[in-house]
Amino acid sequence: MSGFILAIDQGTTSSRAIVFDAAMKVAGVGQKEFTQHFPASGWVEHDPEEIWDSVVSTCKAALKKAGKDAAEISAIGITNQRETVVIWDKATGKPIHNAIVWQDRRTAPLCAKLKKQGLEPRFTRKTGLLLDPYFSGTKIAWLLDKVKGARKQAERGELLAGTIDSFLIWRLTGGKVHATDATNASRTLVYNIEKNDWDAELLDILKIPVVMLPEVKDCAADFGVTDKSLFGAEIPILGVAGDQQAATIGQACFEPGMMKSTYGTGCFAILNTGSDIVRSKNRLLTTIACRLDGKTTYALEGSIFVAGAAVQWLRDGIKVIGKAEQSGVLAANADDTQSVYLVPAFVGLGAPHWDSEARGAIYGLTRNTGPEEFARAALESVAYQTRDLLDAMKKDWKTRNGKTVLRVDGGMVASDWTMQRLADILDAPVDRPTVLETTALGAAWLAGSRAGVWPKAKEFANAWALDRQFRPTMDAATRTAKLKGWHDAVRRTLTPK
Ligand code: G3P
Repeated sequence: MSGFILAIDQGTTSSRAIVFDAAMKVAGVGQKEFTQHFPASGWVEHDPEEIWDSVVSTCKAALKKAGKDAAEISAIGITNQRETVVIWDKATGKPIHNAIVWQDRRTAPLCAKLKKQGLEPRFTRKTGLLLDPYFSGTKIAWLLDKVKGARKQAERGELLAGTIDSFLIWRLTGGKVHATDATNASRTLVYNIEKNDWDAELLDILKIPVVMLPEVKDCAADFGVTDKSLFGAEIPILGVAGDQQAATIGQACFEPGMMKSTYGTGCFAILNTGSDIVRSKNRLLTTIACRLDGKTTYALEGSIFVAGAAVQWLRDGIKVIGKAEQSGVLAANADDTQSVYLVPAFVGLGAPHWDSEARGAIYGLTRNTGPEEFARAALESVAYQTRDLLDAMKKDWKTRNGKTVLRVDGGMVASDWTMQRLADILDAPVDRPTVLETTALGAAWLAGSRAGVWPKAKEFANAWALDRQFRPTMDAATRTAKLKGWHDAVRRTLTPK
């Protein structure tokens, strides 16, 4: 066995494939962006065929860059944008509709209806989630309701449903395996995280036939082998995890109390709570961090829908910057006497507010507000939102030594200014690792350790290395004033109750 692992990271805006060598170093990368479809206000779709093509082509590109044949790859690990759903025909493998993306808000009325019926506590108790359009269950229900004949076909066992990992597994194995892992299942709103099984009662409420759902496996398990026609040789698929959970693994947050925060399109903070199912009293999610050898590790999660997307908005929306990297430089030159706040509720607000109707707002503009202040407001909004998550987490779960250490990753953490400001607003250290490919690395580790060619958890954790620790330097009075300004801005942005 070569020890070379192929990780597929199917994200919200692009698909990436990375070949890691036996020393867990990157040997070749393929990346492809794909089209975002916005068919109506608040709706976001992806074409599953375009996703599939991008995955196959990036895998081939990564293998080529690494100079490896498929036969030299020990295993594949898959990680994916979570909650996004596809329904496809079991006989033909063809999707019946575009994928409905996690950011999509079309099922807000259904969620509101279910809440009105008093069902939210039941969903939360069983799944750890809230009745928000973010999660997969109501999206599947919408597809079964709206695509002609779909529900009847589903009941007859002719259709399959799954998150992106399941769709890829089905296609990669040539239609032989319909499976998912426990982390992806835990985001569907129909998976009982205590019993570790699909929940009959919740499926009944949403009228989803269980026959269409995948078998739920451990994160490191046998998910079948790739069809030989794809890459020239069969490759076993041995690891699967949702991208935020894969990043938690890639950051080696294996111990209770360890936390990571990933700054991609959105920002997702995950706190490992070990075998404890911590019920949040502060509107955080309880979710599965990983399931290995049949043992489930739970987590508290804070989900922010807009982080890097705020910088994209500066670049592509209002065009005050030409490149994302410029945002930190501009922010560093912003006028300290101006208090400008951006509340980036472009697709509503996630944790801890869960206000799907709120929309973005900017406050404190003066005649001399310019691109610098906009850039600072966008980057600071990410820090403030992370602070709100961490405050909620501290209330829900007392850290064992009272200290918070946050490991960060994702595109935005390359900016020193942003990371320093994050540490200042959090009033806590922020650890940036040397390896920033944590999501793909986590998926690769699941597959590599299962194949027996990569180290076990302890040794893998020892290989985690710090690039830089950012420590808070802001004085307390400034921090308090800034936080007060932020909370005022949020209050004014939330939809009136
Ligand atoms: O829950 C959504 C999350 O998995 C999306 O992650 O990195 O594709 O923005 P990302």
